[in-house]
Amino acid sequence: MKPLRALALPALGAALLSLPLMSVAQERDPDSGLIKAEGWQMTKANCTVCHSAKLVTQNSGSRNHWESLIRWMQETQGLWEFQPEMENVILDYLAENYGPQEDSRRPALPRALMPDNPYPTSADPG
Ligand code: HEC
Repeated sequence: MKPLRALALPALGAALLSLPLMSVAQERDPDSGLIKAEGWQMTKANCTVCHSAKLVTQNSGSRNHWESLIRWMQETQGLWEFQPEMENVILDYLAENYGPQEDSRRPALPRALMPDNPYPTSADPG
């Protein structure tokens, strides 16, 4: 019992100590709420002119998703054209910091709630 306890406490202490470090890793701009990572200033300068940054921070998706949103705003909402390098910085920032959310799909239904599989499988013959 004793040797185990002696190991468990320092391990717990180390885990607790690392918590504040993890939250510092994602510092946010107090004004816009944007995550302060490479490209955030350029994103703030271009993406908070017409609407709140919340519209940006509440959205998420792949680089393609962000690119199609930008095209949509350019075609229908009066968003200006970007220099390609500038657009790359913004798209990299968005895809990196507001990328696809892993838990945005609902979990699979349990097998018992699924309709019968009409195709025989090795796990479920016939
Ligand atoms: C020229 C004005 C303008 C600028 C600049 C602008 N947007 Fe928008 N954006 C709009 C308008 C208008 C809407 C629609 C707002 C609404 O539905 O209330 C919108 C909507 C959005 C939405 C929500 C889309 C949805 O599915 O509801 C997101 C996300 C977004 N913009 C991101 C951005 C990003 C990222 C940038 C910077 C690259 C940006 N916007 C810059 C005008 C702009």
